[in-house]
Amino acid sequence: MSGQRVCVSDFEDEARKVLPKSVFDYYRSGADQQHTLTDNVAAFNRWHLLPRVLRDVSTVDMSVSVLGHRLSMPVCVAATAMQRMAHPEGETATARACRAVGTGMMLSSWATSTIEEVMSAMTSSAGGAVLWLQLYIYKDRELTLSLVRRAEEAGYKAIFVTVDTPYLGRRLDDMRNRFKLPSHLSMSNFTSASLAFSEGNYGDDSGLAVYVAKAIDPTLCWDDITWLKKHTHLPVIVKGILNGEDAVQAVNRGVSGILVSNHGARQLDGVPATLDVLEEVVKSVDGRCEVYMDGGVRRGTDVLKALALGAKAVFIGRPVLWGLSCQGEQGVTKVLELVKEELRLAMALSGCRSVSELSLQWLFRRRRESLRRHWTFLCHQLRSVHSLLRCSQQMFF
Ligand code: GLV
Repeated sequence: MSGQRVCVSDFEDEARKVLPKSVFDYYRSGADQQHTLTDNVAAFNRWHLLPRVLRDVSTVDMSVSVLGHRLSMPVCVAATAMQRMAHPEGETATARACRAVGTGMMLSSWATSTIEEVMSAMTSSAGGAVLWLQLYIYKDRELTLSLVRRAEEAGYKAIFVTVDTPYLGRRLDDMRNRFKLPSHLSMSNFTSASLAFSEGNYGDDSGLAVYVAKAIDPTLCWDDITWLKKHTHLPVIVKGILNGEDAVQAVNRGVSGILVSNHGARQLDGVPATLDVLEEVVKSVDGRCEVYMDGGVRRGTDVLKALALGAKAVFIGRPVLWGLSCQGEQGVTKVLELVKEELRLAMALSGCRSVSELSLQWLFRRRRESLRRHWTFLCHQLRSVHSLLRCSQQMFF
């Protein structure tokens, strides 16, 4: 019997025990040396919280509007692929948990449950929530648009198009494990075995890397965002932006949102932590569309920091997978409730009564603070030298 799980890493520790090694490795890994994977988490510690006191925090409003939908908290579920490897109910369990907590879920194109199944799981349980589809653009554009059509018909509310995966990043454990889906599972939104990732023979490589090289379109460019927007009435959000110039391009193409993301550090190792580029993206966008972030969010104080830096909401991926692996729907609900409660407490202890109040005033950056201290010290020394010089002037002249 496991002990009480009181933080996300407790769920991760347990997931490591219950999942087959190749599945745990697939979910956990970042690309190459995994520097960005570590930095995504570490970046949150480069900021301190600056609490305000005596502000009646007996009620704290965490609700937020994302793309016009009211959610109970600014923490949504990121697209993570192949969730039935974590639990037999996979994405349908995650959807029910989102519904119970009242938040949004982004379904991966590479789900092991269909677009329609996940929607009916969400709508058949109590609570309020919303579903969005994460989209990879395939070489086969008709196939790509068929996913969009199905999402529209099923009642999904937006398309998050991934733009950072012309090829799959090098995830060393997946290469060593020759990662592929267990034979009883498939990417359920596709009918052909090769597109459903259930073909079987991927040589000595990560099966998913081979799959991406065969199926996903590496020629994508900005005109394809315009193309996608022309083919759907749903809001289009670009997922995978890491700098201000790309953010401006996206805004100029009329997107409804930008997800600042480095794909959970699974694509290009060495790119900055998402928190470190969030401010630049928010400034460049200048209110012209919503900005969200994912990457490294593990606790309520992380959410508070990302929101203070300008994110409208954050997305969490791995923590949800750990909850799902431990206890299915109940585990995901617990993880979401845990982060929600951590956020409520962090806001109350910071003297912040509503997410709309959050701004840079609630933070200071450690590096800036230490520069300020060095500067003060230097000024102090200069003043001493100056008064010494004045004394010696008076004595001798
Ligand atoms: C899926 O999106 C992955 O990064 O493996």
